[in-house]
Amino acid sequence: MTPLDPACGYSDGDVDTNDTTTPSLETLADNRFSRRQTIMGGAKATGMALMGTAMLTACDDDDTGSDAGIIVNAGTNAATSAGRVVTLTGTVVAGSASSTTWTQTDGPDVELTLDGTTATFLAPAVEEATDLEFTFAATTSDGTEREAVTYVRVSPAVLGFTAVEHSLADTVVVPTGYSVTVMTRLGDPLTAATSAYANDGTDTDFANRIGDHADALHYFGLSAAGAPDDMANTRGLMVQNHENITEEYLHPAGPTTIGGARPLDEVRKEIECHGVSVAEYVDSGNRTWSYVQDSSFNRRITPNTPMTLSGPAAGSAWMRTAYSANGTSGRGTINNCANGISAWHTNLTCEENWAGYFRRDSGDDANRTPAQLTSLQRYGVRSTSGNYRWSSASTTDTTITRWNATIMGADATEDFRNEPFQFGWVVEIDPYDPTSTPRKRTALGRFGHEGAFVRAVAGQPVGAYMGDDSRGEYLYKYVSNANWNAGDADNADRLAVGDKYLDHGTLYVARFNADGTGEWLPLVFGQVPPRPASGSYPAYTFADQADILINPRLAADALGATPMDRPEWTAGNPVTGEIYLTLTNSNNSNRPVDGTNAANPRSYWNAGNPNGHIVRLREDGDTTAARTFAWDIYMFGADTLDCDTAFEQTNINISDLDTSNDFSSPDGAYFSRESAVSGQFNPVFWIQTDDGAMTDVTNCMMLAAMPGTVGDGNAFTVTNTDGAQTTTQGTHVGALATPASLRRFLVGPVECEITGVDMTPDGRTLFVGIQHPGERGDAGNVTSHWPESQTNASATSRPRSAVVAITKDDGGVIAL
Ligand code: FEO
Ligand code: CA
Ligand code: CA
Repeated sequence: MTPLDPACGYSDGDVDTNDTTTPSLETLADNRFSRRQTIMGGAKATGMALMGTAMLTACDDDDTGSDAGIIVNAGTNAATSAGRVVTLTGTVVAGSASSTTWTQTDGPDVELTLDGTTATFLAPAVEEATDLEFTFAATTSDGTEREAVTYVRVSPAVLGFTAVEHSLADTVVVPTGYSVTVMTRLGDPLTAATSAYANDGTDTDFANRIGDHADALHYFGLSAAGAPDDMANTRGLMVQNHENITEEYLHPAGPTTIGGARPLDEVRKEIECHGVSVAEYVDSGNRTWSYVQDSSFNRRITPNTPMTLSGPAAGSAWMRTAYSANGTSGRGTINNCANGISAWHTNLTCEENWAGYFRRDSGDDANRTPAQLTSLQRYGVRSTSGNYRWSSASTTDTTITRWNATIMGADATEDFRNEPFQFGWVVEIDPYDPTSTPRKRTALGRFGHEGAFVRAVAGQPVGAYMGDDSRGEYLYKYVSNANWNAGDADNADRLAVGDKYLDHGTLYVARFNADGTGEWLPLVFGQVPPRPASGSYPAYTFADQADILINPRLAADALGATPMDRPEWTAGNPVTGEIYLTLTNSNNSNRPVDGTNAANPRSYWNAGNPNGHIVRLREDGDTTAARTFAWDIYMFGADTLDCDTAFEQTNINISDLDTSNDFSSPDGAYFSRESAVSGQFNPVFWIQTDDGAMTDVTNCMMLAAMPGTVGDGNAFTVTNTDGAQTTTQGTHVGALATPASLRRFLVGPVECEITGVDMTPDGRTLFVGIQHPGERGDAGNVTSHWPESQTNASATSRPRSAVVAITKDDGGVIAL
C-alpha cells in the first residue's frame, strides 16, 4: 500500500487508494501512445510515451510535465469501484498558469464536473477492472501549455456501506455517510388552496391530500415540457399507493360510533385516505428534494374515482351494479399494495386485501347462486360489517352504501351485490394526464394482487409476474398476445398502449416441481377442469373466460398450482431477467410440518414459516413466453439471535445470515434501475420487510443485496419438527449470504413497515416508503412520533406515513 500523499493532490472521497491500481506498463504505454500520437503525431510520440511510463512510479515524479518554467501534476493513480464519486486535483507545482483544465483522455466516458483545478466524476459501471485516463493541462500567459495525466482504475460495483445494526429507535436509520429527507407525508396538501395538515384529527378534504399508509411508489421522470423522461434526475412525479389507514389517528379521539352508526364525515375521510397519489417532486440542486404543492400534475385517485373496466371480464354479468348496469365501469380502487410499471410510462396499482371492506349480512348466502357463493367464500368476502363499518353510516349516498354487498334489490342493477367483483384487479393509471380515467385490466385476473412486475423485451410478449398475497395462494404470470414493440414506449396515448398489451393475453399460474423445475399452467376456458367439491362447497364448473378471470383462485385450485407462503412482491433482475418473489411468511395451520413442499420447505417453532423466504425463477429460453422454468430459493429469512442450537442454525437459518443481515418477513422487492450504475452487470436487489416475528429486537428494515443466479447453490434437505413429529423436505437453496452479498441498509421507526422503493434514473437518490409508524397506538397513546422524531427527539406529534429521499452525502450512487 502506498500511503496517500496529500501533496500529490489526489482525493477520492471514500475510495481505496493503493499501489495495486497502477496500470500495467502495457496499458500505460498503449494509452499514452495513442493519446500522444493524436496530440503530437509521428515517431517522436513513441519516445514521449515511454518516458512518461517510466515516470509513474512515485508521487513526486508522477507524470509531471515541466517546460518553459511551468510544472503541473495530475496526482497519483488511484482505484475505486463503480458508482463512487472521484475527485481529481491538479496542481501547478511551479510557474504561473493563466488557465487550467481537466479532460478525459481514455476509458469509458464519464462526465467531468470542473471546479478550479479539481474535477469530479462518478465512476461508471464496468464489467471488469477498467482504467480511465485523465489529463490536467495548464496554459501560461504566453500560450505555453503543459499537461500531466493520471489514471483511475474502476472495479465492478460492490456494496460499499457499513451495515446498519438492529434498531428500535423511532427514526429512519441509514448508514454513515447517508442522509434522510422526509418528503410527502399523510395529509400533506396537493393543491395551493388546501390547508396545511393540522395532524390532530380535525383535517378534512383528503381527496386533495396525501393519503395514509404509504405503500408501493414509483418516480416517473418529467421533462421540462411535462412529458415522460426516463433520464430526468431532478424532476418527477411520485406515484404512491395508500394501502390502508390507521383509523385511530385520523379523528380527534379515534373513530366513533353514534347509535350503532359511523358518522358520515368520519367515513368519508377514511375512504378518501385510501387510493393512490401523484405528487410532483423537484430537486433544487445537489439532490435537495421537495414536493410541489401546487403542481398541475398532482392528483388523488380514491375509492370514489371513476374507472373503466377493460379486458375479457368487462361487461360480464358478474360486474353489473347499480352504478354500471352494463358492467363496464366502476368507482375507485382500494387496498393498493404493491405496483407495477409498464414499459410505456404508466403505473399499475394492485388491489390486495379488498375483500374485507365489504359487508354481507347473514342472510345473504341463501340468496346467492352456488357459483357466486363459492366465489365469495373462496375470496373471503364474508364480513357482516366490513372494515371500519363504513356502510353503517346513515345515508343514501351510494359512494358509501356500495360497501354493503348484501342482495337487496330485484336484480344486480338495483344494489351492490356485485361490487366485490369489481375489486381485486390490476389498475392502469396514466400519471402524466391528471384527467385520464384509470382502467381495470381484467385480463390479468382477480385476486389479492400484491404487485405486477412487468418485463418487456423487444420481440417477446409483455410478461407480468404477480403474487396473490394470502397464505397458501399462488404465483401468476400474464403473457400478452402482442410482442413488445419498443416504439410503443413513447406513444402519447399511453392507456391505448395498455389496451394493446394488457387486454389481450393469457393468464398462467405456477406449479413448482420438487426437482427445481416449474410449469406455467394456462387459465384458459376449455383447458381448466371443474374445481372438485370440497368441504361444504359444490364442484365449480367455469362458464366462460370471464368467469375464470374473475375467479382465478378457483381455476388455479383445479389445475393443481403450488400453494405458497403468502406471495408478496415480484421483481426482475434487469440483467439476467430472473424473477424474484418474496414469500413473507405462513403460520402453522397453513404450513404444518407435514404440509411443506419443495418451494415452501420450512415449518418450525409450531409457527409454520414465520420468517419467510424469497424464491427466484429463470424462464426456460429466457423468454416471457416460456411455459417452463427453473427455480431455487434465493434466501431464507431468519432471526439469528433465536437460532441458538445447531439444529436451528442448520434447518432454520439455512442461508447463514448473521446480525448484520438477518431479516424476517420479506415483502417489498426491487432491483435498481438499469439506467443507474447500481442496475448494471450485477444489479443491487432491495428487500423490505413487513415483520412481526423479530420486532422484539429490531424495527422493520430494508436490505441491499448483490444476488447471484438461479442454481448458484445446492440441493438441501430441511428437517422440520413440531415436537410431535419430524419430517424432511428436499429443496434447492441459492448461494449462502455473505457480508459482500447482503447487508442491512435501513431500519425504520417504531411499528412501521418498510414498503415502496424506487430511485432517480442515476441511482443517486433512493425513495423509500415508511408505512404506518406507531400503528399499535391510538390518539391517547401515541406510540411513534415519526417523522417529526427524525429530527426532534422531543417530538410529541401523531405519526404519519411518509416517503423519504435518501442520498449519499458525497453524491455517490446509493449502496455502492
Ligand atoms: Fe399489502 Fe401484501 O402487503
Ligand atoms: Ca406489501
Ligand atoms: Ca404488507
